[in-house]
Amino acid sequence: MAQRTLVLIKPDAVRRGLVGQILSRYEEKGLTLVAMEQRTIDAAMADAHYAEHVEKPWYPPLREFATSGPLVALVLEGDEAISVVRRLNGATDGRQAEPGTIRGDMSLSNRENMVHASDSEESSARETALWFPDL
Ligand code: CDP
Ligand code: MG
Repeated sequence: MAQRTLVLIKPDAVRRGLVGQILSRYEEKGLTLVAMEQRTIDAAMADAHYAEHVEKPWYPPLREFATSGPLVALVLEGDEAISVVRRLNGATDGRQAEPGTIRGDMSLSNRENMVHASDSEESSARETALWFPDL
């Protein structure tokens, strides 16, 4: 079933000059780029995006990271895009993510882990509307 998913290429990836490599992985897989925008977000936008995590003890440093510089937000579309992109991204902690995944190949951190992707149809709908209200 065709789905859309909201992806963030996080500030660590932009700082390290890896946006192109990450985009290539999604394109090589056959996903379609529906929307893309580079932006630097404020704390309110970070809190809205990470609403499910704002009470976690590790959220304040995550907010610092998410607002630390430009990121690239995109919407990808394709067959089963939500689960496909989660698998391409790999496990949350880059130290444990499988080699061959974006996080497994590019991250050594459980916070600065290069990418975000929606984890369900509900979060995809919510996050896509948050980042791209005109879509
Ligand atoms: O991004 P994902 O859905 O894989 O993981 P999450 O559990 O929903 O956590 C969201 C984000 O919070 C992660 O991608 C990490 O950047 C960050 N995080 C963190 O800073 N410290 C943790 N202990 C866990 C997650
Ligand atoms: Mg998550």
